[in-house]
Amino acid sequence: MITSTKIADIDFGSYICNASGVNDTTVEELTQLAASKSAAIVVKSATIESRVGNPEPRLAHTDIGIIQSMGWPNLGYKEYIKIVPELKKLSNKPIIASVAGFCDEDYVTITAAYQNSDVDLIEISLSCPNIDGHPQAGYDYEKAGNLLKKLNGLGKKPIGVKLPPYLDSAKQEQMAKIITDNNISFVTCINSPGNALIIDPDTEATLIKPREGFGGLCGEYIKPIALGNVRGFYNLFRDKDISIIGVGGISTGRDAFEFLLAGADAVQVGSILEKEGLSCLERIDNELANIMESKGYKTISEARGKLKTI
Ligand code: DHB
Repeated sequence: MITSTKIADIDFGSYICNASGVNDTTVEELTQLAASKSAAIVVKSATIESRVGNPEPRLAHTDIGIIQSMGWPNLGYKEYIKIVPELKKLSNKPIIASVAGFCDEDYVTITAAYQNSDVDLIEISLSCPNIDGHPQAGYDYEKAGNLLKKLNGLGKKPIGVKLPPYLDSAKQEQMAKIITDNNISFVTCINSPGNALIIDPDTEATLIKPREGFGGLCGEYIKPIALGNVRGFYNLFRDKDISIIGVGGISTGRDAFEFLLAGADAVQVGSILEKEGLSCLERIDNELANIMESKGYKTISEARGKLKTI
């Protein structure tokens, strides 16, 4: 495949996979992902215990994206670890586990368990915007550094971090230093910018119920910020062996190609997967392949980062 790629030296058969949180929470959804054209199976962020999440409605679409406050609904990490061998039988795609928690100890327990499981990569979420009383570690450099130190050495599987958007390049540089100091193999950026509010002027009400309508913003709204963050990390990691997964507002092959030019090794899709279903994974990958062919690029690495400045 012209769009095949690698994340942390693990082979991905194509460039597009699901973003954590979309079609990846139940056994049925994960089984569907295994049968889909997704390049990998990203599993919903897992906590120690299973959670039902926030009250509904907790996700709402607009013409250009989604606001959501899911609240970590998930089966608990032990259930996901039980399912992984079954998923491995169904497909040879890499499996990316996503780790969430309320304290460092939770992250250590879950990461250690995933290190001893059949997953291929482990993505540490430093950026859930939707849990009251749980500030995002991605914005607390001391907390993030201390946590990543504790996760180092728990096993040999590559560890990545899912990051919130940095709207200041100096803040992004600070996080890049923590990443390079702590043996992190890949970054996934960006997570939904939190603290967003969408208001329906007709009903004069919020679109979602939890947290008085505040939630994470997804989709087209956030693409330029995601591209800026991918490009920023690409520049900061030029001489480092750290892969970059782009996420935020990708719904076409053209969008994916923009992330490739910015420096993404692969991309994840959330809002479009929620809206269109699993068929979008193959569609976007085919569209990207057509663009690459028409431009004479034969591999992802040939085009990666080749953004021109004017
Ligand atoms: C949830 C939302 C996110 O944007 C995220 O990164 C992790 C979890 C959630 O509310 O479940």
